Amino acid sequence: MKKILVIHGPNLDLLGKREPEVYGKTTLAKINQELEKIAKAKKVSLKIVQSNHEGEIVDLIGKNKEKFDALLINPAAYTHTSVAIRDAIAACGIPTVEVHLSNIYSREEFRHNSLIAAVAKGQIAGFGINSYILGLEAAISLVTKT
Ligand code: DQA
Repeated sequence: MKKILVIHGPNLDLLGKREPEVYGKTTLAKINQELEKIAKAKKVSLKIVQSNHEGEIVDLIGKNKEKFDALLINPAAYTHTSVAIRDAIAACGIPTVEVHLSNIYSREEFRHNSLIAAVAKGQIAGFGINSYILGLEAAISLVTKT
């Protein structure tokens, strides 16, 4: 069975309560539940982690590179700042899908640049919880032959 590592970056544990006008009212637990449902139907397994710590995310990617076939990541604020997470993804070579709940290009200018995008297979942004669902489907299609 193919395995996909799902990483939620900083402050995403606050979803549901955090700026609901931007990020919606769906909690992270609900998003994870939806992802698990899709994974079950598509017969892939997920390891889902949320972390507020850059180094922890770097470790997760580096230490798990042999264990997973794809990475689905919402790097959250680290999208715009973290050379370390970008380099970890480049070094591990696991096909990566970057997702964002909000459309980062229609928001403040500092969100327009993603350091992660260039090392990801692709990016999905702006569809709320559906960004994750579309992102997981993209990750599954990268690792399964159809
Ligand atoms: C986000 C967008 C980022 O700019 C922001 O820092 C986040 C969430 C999103 O999912 O829309 O924390 O990644």
